[in-house]
Amino acid sequence: MSDDSRPAPAGARTAAVIPAAGRGVRLGPGAPKALRALNGTPMLIHAVRAMAASRAVSLVVVVAPPDGAAEVRTLLDAHALPERTEFLVVPGGDSRQESVRLGLDALPAGIDIVLVHDAARPLVPVDTVDGVIEAVRGGAAAVVPALPLTDTVKQVEPAAAAGEPEPVVATPERSRLRAVQTPQGFERDTLVRAHATVTENVTDDASMVEQLGLRVVVVPGHEEAFKVTRPLDLILAEAVLARRRLTDGF
Ligand code: CTP
Ligand code: MG
Repeated sequence: MSDDSRPAPAGARTAAVIPAAGRGVRLGPGAPKALRALNGTPMLIHAVRAMAASRAVSLVVVVAPPDGAAEVRTLLDAHALPERTEFLVVPGGDSRQESVRLGLDALPAGIDIVLVHDAARPLVPVDTVDGVIEAVRGGAAAVVPALPLTDTVKQVEPAAAAGEPEPVVATPERSRLRAVQTPQGFERDTLVRAHATVTENVTDDASMVEQLGLRVVVVPGHEEAFKVTRPLDLILAEAVLARRRLTDGF
């Protein structure tokens, strides 16, 4: 067993960093995406509750829109959240990667495991969160929840102009592909090192750890951990919440 796969100690403290500083351009005009309401409650509050629902998570760091940190603090104060969980709010940056790094910079000493969770995935079930933490405790440097794909994926030569036909370069075998979600889980030191080392733009944190040559594993994700990206996703999210209210009574 190498140093990088040593299991985290049983008493490891876990924090969740929630990047919420994006505009939500693909959702269309309106407030920053994380502050938009789903069945009357801001998406960010749903995401914070989803992280705080795990008994292992003792701290949640929200990375707010750069000019919206005060508003986010007010929102967190106004909504019921578990007492056992601490909250911090920091302003975000121009890219998701920068926002996550600013969140990592705010972590206090004593945190050994870090989850990074998109505010735009407000409905991830607690079992998925706990599964990720378990796998980090089990010795993986990085853990990614993911699902098999339903669509076949083509690699293309992107067209210069939108709408032009694009030549297909390859068709990866679908059964070997996974669509990845969050929360992604990490040993804190590994994720901090990855953010200090990898400078090129990436769309998820685990790929930075892959670039360090460390072991990244996939665990089962969940349908309800989908990312709210386009307007239709808002309708789906509200339908999931309505179904939960019927089946759970809240
Ligand atoms: N994010 C962030 N800081 C940025 C950009 C994105 O914290 N500068 C966060 C978003 O708030 C979101 C998560 O990263 O919770 C995933 O990003 P995405 O779904 O792409 O959200 P947006 O960037 O807000 O949406 P869009 O790309 O449509 O503008
Ligand atoms: Mg984005």
